[in-house]
Amino acid sequence: MDKSIENDIKHYYADRAYEYNKTYLRPERQKDIKKLHRLLKILFIDQFVLEIACGTGYWTKTIASVSKFITAIDVNNEVLQIARNRGIPSNQAVFIQDDVYILKKIQDTFSAGFAGFWWSHISKSKLKQFIFSFHLKLQSKALVVFIDNRRVKRSSTPISRMDVEGNTYQIRKLEDGREYEILKNFPTKKEIRDTLGNEVKNLKIKFLKYFWIVSYNKLP
Ligand SMILES: C[S@@+](CC[C@H](N)C(=O)[O-])C[C@H]1O[C@@H](n2cnc3c(N)ncnc32)[C@H](O)[C@@H]1O
Repeated sequence: MDKSIENDIKHYYADRAYEYNKTYLRPERQKDIKKLHRLLKILFIDQFVLEIACGTGYWTKTIASVSKFITAIDVNNEVLQIARNRGIPSNQAVFIQDDVYILKKIQDTFSAGFAGFWWSHISKSKLKQFIFSFHLKLQSKALVVFIDNRRVKRSSTPISRMDVEGNTYQIRKLEDGREYEILKNFPTKKEIRDTLGNEVKNLKIKFLKYFWIVSYNKLP
């Protein structure tokens, strides 16, 4: 991905750290959010999980409550500080500052991988390569789960433009008025299926009203 697009995403979320959790309070989304918590609590029972781009640890806490252990990484210390203050016991989770495109501090392999609201920030031309690199940190037949946003009229931030690859962008505004242009894609079920191709089995794609959730086992 264009380095400036990656950097814009990184800086935007560092600056947004203290207002990020408000996104999970939006009234119209509560029913779907409850469903996602319920599904994650079933999927990750007894797993050793690697979570990438964990942010403020909102989903980490849910997964940690059922998994054997979760290692959660994010590039921004601003969000990791909030995550570490969630009170998740240290025998259930660890938060590590690392870049998803490098993952140089992650030496173990894991029985499961998770990313919340990260797929949508990767440019279409880099997505397959990114998923391949993520899979390298996971054991054979590991469970992989992605959740992300659907585009919903009058609820999602409008699309500001589309680039030549077909990536879409939004203008995001913080409470203090600062503005950022952020790459944010909204894949269809077919695009998700085509991206994962023959590299996976047991693929399940569920579209809720505001979110989608994908789970599969990587091959081999
Ligand atoms: C949309 S937020 C998702 C946060 C969290 N997964 C959630 O669902 O609440 C994207 C996260 O990606 C992180 N991020 C951005 N660039 C990154 C990078 N290169 N490596 C690791 N994390 C990154 C941001 O700091 C931010 O916390």
